Amino acid sequence: MKNLFKILILLMNVFLIHSLNAQKLSSDNIDEILKAMTLEEKAKLLVGTPNHLFGGGESTVGHTEELVPGAAGTTQNIERLGITSTVLSDGPAGLRISPTRPGDDDTYYCTGFPVGTCLSSSWNTELVYEVGKTIGNEVLEYGADVLLAPGMNIHRNPLCGRNFEYYSEDPLLTGKIAEAYVNGVQSNGVGTSVKHYVANNQETNRTGNDSQVSQRALREIYLKGFEIAIKESKPWTVMSSYNKLNGDFTQESHGLLTTVLREEWGFDGIVMTDWTRPRNIVAQIKAGNDLMEPGMQVQAEEIVAKVNSGELTMEDVDKCVKRMLEFVVKTPRFKGYKYSNKPNLKENAKVTRQSATEGMVLLKNINKTLPLAEQTKNIALFGVTSYDFIAGGTGSGDVNKAYVVDLMEGLGNVGYTVQEDLKALYEKYKAYERAKIASETEARSWFLGKPVLKEMPVARLFIQKQAEESDVAVITIGRNSGEGGDRKIPNDYGITTEERKLLNDVCDVFHSKGKKVVVILNIGGVLETASWKNLPDAILLTWQPGQEGGNSVADVLKGTVNPSGKLPMTFPIAVMDHPSTNNFPYDYTPKPYNSFFGNSPEGKDVDYTVYEEDIYVGYRYFSTVNKPISYPFGFGLSYTDFEYGKPKISAKGSEFTATISVKNIGQKAGKQVVELYVTAPDGKLEKPAKELKAFAKTKELAPGESQILTLKFSAYDLASYDEAIHSWVTDGGKYTAKFGTSVEDIFSKVLFNVSKASYEVNDVLKPEVDINRLSLKQYSHDK
Ligand code: BGC
Repeated sequence: MKNLFKILILLMNVFLIHSLNAQKLSSDNIDEILKAMTLEEKAKLLVGTPNHLFGGGESTVGHTEELVPGAAGTTQNIERLGITSTVLSDGPAGLRISPTRPGDDDTYYCTGFPVGTCLSSSWNTELVYEVGKTIGNEVLEYGADVLLAPGMNIHRNPLCGRNFEYYSEDPLLTGKIAEAYVNGVQSNGVGTSVKHYVANNQETNRTGNDSQVSQRALREIYLKGFEIAIKESKPWTVMSSYNKLNGDFTQESHGLLTTVLREEWGFDGIVMTDWTRPRNIVAQIKAGNDLMEPGMQVQAEEIVAKVNSGELTMEDVDKCVKRMLEFVVKTPRFKGYKYSNKPNLKENAKVTRQSATEGMVLLKNINKTLPLAEQTKNIALFGVTSYDFIAGGTGSGDVNKAYVVDLMEGLGNVGYTVQEDLKALYEKYKAYERAKIASETEARSWFLGKPVLKEMPVARLFIQKQAEESDVAVITIGRNSGEGGDRKIPNDYGITTEERKLLNDVCDVFHSKGKKVVVILNIGGVLETASWKNLPDAILLTWQPGQEGGNSVADVLKGTVNPSGKLPMTFPIAVMDHPSTNNFPYDYTPKPYNSFFGNSPEGKDVDYTVYEEDIYVGYRYFSTVNKPISYPFGFGLSYTDFEYGKPKISAKGSEFTATISVKNIGQKAGKQVVELYVTAPDGKLEKPAKELKAFAKTKELAPGESQILTLKFSAYDLASYDEAIHSWVTDGGKYTAKFGTSVEDIFSKVLFNVSKASYEVNDVLKPEVDINRLSLKQYSHDK
């Protein structure tokens, strides 16, 4: 009898295992599948597919190269339970995969879109949504599941090598642009990974540096953009950053990944690491970092060992595994989507051409130099970058695009001719310099990209000849940077001796002949402009505008498109004017670049970077202390003029709505951005003089046409973070809304009343060191 009972139990077990084995993952049976998984299978799901490219062992089933060659990583499949692999691929300016495949005649090029900074300069969330939607379609049609973008770290300092991937020095603009981008990409049924969470504001020693930030600066500046984007667009994934934050690696910080991200903001997706070597696995899982990328076999083995030793509980692991399963069932690969490998690259090129123009910022335009006069035919095109245009930055933010339209080509496409002898000289120089670099730095990795060539000296006599034969001079100044390194002050933030000489000579000679000079800035981050901006007649900041760059610039020069971009950051006079520069590794001594995972430089602000400037990042500092700048945050000219009506603000409970009419009173159709800054009444906490709280952009207004813009914000948006009571506090009283076309160009003010409110949150993420925080309470604010 006893034996019969035993046999019965055995049979039942076999049946149960069998039936569970037969069960395949679906969105309805996640809990059952979780129960059916062995510990080894669970561990496997939390670790990206071991990949020999990252030293993670031999290729295994589901290897990234077999799924989508050139993608950054994959999650592992568990066939028995129908858990498919998923494909994770960079990046912010478009999908980054290998353009060619061995033994395959087809090509897999992706569209190179404008860099993040160019997109944010559009201040146009609808446009960014469309760009995101177009990128997302390439993600879907090339068989990837998650785009590792947007990059949304704050431009704490102009020298950060990855600022081009990021949006702004302001968290509201960052959050709103990211929100639009994520919504656009995800409208295709693919995911995004908002990155790098958080305080990854320098590249120097990025895998070892500890950002020490006050709780207030963290909440108000560095986390705020993520908070906005995560609440408003529900990205499928978040990428924790390489660096430490207040003593902990972000991927090991429970306060960051669970308390703030999930409990306070309601994030319900997965968190993955940035592409790191193994770190403390117990801390990561307990913190809520679900996926380790790029993934190594030892990590999976360690998870098993730690559960067996009791350092991790099955419950800890299950929380992450469950979220992974919830993620997997959303992906196109799981759903069996039959991707075409043939996105419409022709149509997508039109999207990038147009979107880039909207991020271009007209910094100077004396006597209507631009658009170029109708009789302009022949252009003297100076600057080696004119012939070697920079579409985007380097590293994982780069896209393998089929072509880049350089400026010379773009001008030709809209009917201009360029001085042939000048062109021939530059082409020869370019070929020579490129060959020299190639032989000098053969080992230069994809990671460091193509360097910008040193400017070619041009003899004054030859410039004179150009001035006689052409209608106008255009000079391009180029800069490039990317992950793994920060920018230097001389010759990168600053202009070089050769560039200065070229600017001086060309302006001098052309002006003496009554001809104009236009400067094009083909750059990824802030450049010193104060010392030379008086020289040319016009300056157009084009950023790195994507693969159609030359065409986009030509559209603006010709006037087919009226520029409407606004600076998403301050252009200071000197980089040292930023209080953060003091605590930025601008003077480090780099050691030779030694691995994919980061360099190990020596110098200050390498192990620790103490954010002493606190909340005074960018214009929050300059406008509070009234320090002169070269170009203010939010600035950008147009080919037309606008007139503004009297703004109104109405309140409904804790929600505020401002309305303002904008009229095009000039001769050309154009768009305009209205920026709403708020000055708070005096309260317990010191505050910056002005903070951006809302913005809106008009549609294209024909001459004489007007539009009423609506700008919304809430009492919560006005709150500052009070560390003493770990609460967001909105002081009650009279606030001033300042409507402007830059933080310095305010054209209207409206006072409005706000009732006191406070919102308690968790007292987490304290810095470990005493921060000597910048205080500016001695400055009174103009109300
Ligand atoms: C970068 C990430 C990128 C990842 C995968 C890392 O080096 O920091 O932004 O998504 O590589 O390529």
